[in-house]
Amino acid sequence: MEREYYKTKESVEEYIRLAKDVNGRQLIEKLKQVLAPKSTLLEIGSGPGSDWKILNKSFQVMGSDNSIEFLNHLRAENPNGKFLELDAITLQTDKKFDGIYSNKVLHHLNDHELVNSIKKQYEVLNTQGVICHSFWKGEGSEIFKGLFVKYHTEKSLKEVFGQHFKILSIESYAEFEQGDSLLLLGIKK
Ligand SMILES: C[S@@+](CC[C@H](N)C(=O)[O-])C[C@H]1O[C@@H](n2cnc3c(N)ncnc32)[C@H](O)[C@@H]1O
Repeated sequence: MEREYYKTKESVEEYIRLAKDVNGRQLIEKLKQVLAPKSTLLEIGSGPGSDWKILNKSFQVMGSDNSIEFLNHLRAENPNGKFLELDAITLQTDKKFDGIYSNKVLHHLNDHELVNSIKKQYEVLNTQGVICHSFWKGEGSEIFKGLFVKYHTEKSLKEVFGQHFKILSIESYAEFEQGDSLLLLGIKK
C-alpha cells in the first residue's frame, strides 16, 4: 500500500478533486524574483498541473511526475505541454535546466532519498541554476494515506540543501494554517 496513493486512477481523481482550488501562485511569485522569464524550468511532481499552468506562462517548463495516472491527466489536459516520467530521487534525464520547482513533493522522500535527489538536482541544473521547493513544516515523519511524509524545519533544510546549494531564503507560509509550510529558494554553489 505504501506509496500507492498517487498511483491509482481513483486516488488521482480524488486528489485532483480535493486540490482543485489550491495552487502555488504565491510561491511562483517568489521564484520569479530569482529566475529570469523564459528560463528553462523542471517541475518535479506536477500532479494535477495547477502550478504547471502558472509556470508555463513565465518559463519554458517541463512538467514531470512518477505517477503514470497523473501524467495521463497532465498530457490530456495540456496537449501542447512537455512532460516527463521522472522520479524525484533519481531524476534520470540528460536534459539540463535553469531552475527546478516542486510544491509539496519532496516531503515524500526519506532522508537518504532526499540527499540523492539533491545531488541529482545539482547535476541537472545549469551554472547558477536555482531551486524552489515547498515542504510541510514540523518535526518527525508519519504515514498518511499510505504515503511516507517527512516534516522539515529551517535547520533540517539548511543542513541537507546547504551541501550543494547556497540558501537564498527559507520562509514560512500558510497552506492551511499559519506557519504550516516552508518555501526554500537556493542557487547552485
Ligand atoms: C502532494 S502531491 C503535490 C502535487 C502538486 N505539486 C500540487 O501542488 O498539487 C505530490 C505529487 O508528487 C508526486 N510524487 C510523489 N513522490 C514522487 C517521486 N518520488 N518522484 C516524482 N513525483 C513524486 C505525486 O505523484 C504527486 O503528484
